[in-house]
Amino acid sequence: MIDVKMKVNGRDLAAQVDDRLSLADFLRDRNDLTGTHLGCEHGVCGACTLLLDGEPVRGCITLAAAADGCEVTSIEGFEHDPMMAVIRQAFRDGHGLQCGFCTPGMLIMVRDMIQRGVCSGEAAIRLELSGNICRCTGYQGIVDSVLLARDRWAEQQKAAE
Ligand code: FES
Ligand code: FES
Repeated sequence: MIDVKMKVNGRDLAAQVDDRLSLADFLRDRNDLTGTHLGCEHGVCGACTLLLDGEPVRGCITLAAAADGCEVTSIEGFEHDPMMAVIRQAFRDGHGLQCGFCTPGMLIMVRDMIQRGVCSGEAAIRLELSGNICRCTGYQGIVDSVLLARDRWAEQQKAAE
């Protein structure tokens, strides 16, 4: 067992964790943060995407012990985030989800993409999102939603200038 301390969604957490406990399991099973979804559990589908010190990582292949001293943001941590509010609405309006299983990971990844300014067009979005698998939508709705979110966020930023 290892002692870890981390900040999760702005809250300080201290715990003892098994050496091999994944960060996703730690959040879901020990902290009731079940918005981090588990699909493949081996780093392929992106459903478990969350931020570790501001960078997207796969929660299923990141050890909880590796998050010691770090800042972790799961989908629950974006409740009051203005950019995420725009993205969520765009996914609703653009039919970017069906069952919603992949959606938490998609939203976190898309927010990172918009922040990095890499959503220049459909091809770039498909490439950037290629690590996030959706079994429902056929992706066109997701790509349309990302374009919508990108444009709405840019408009909002411009209006605030
Ligand atoms: S559950 Fe982590 S990448 Fe699929
Ligand atoms: S909306 Fe169902 S898996 Fe993506």
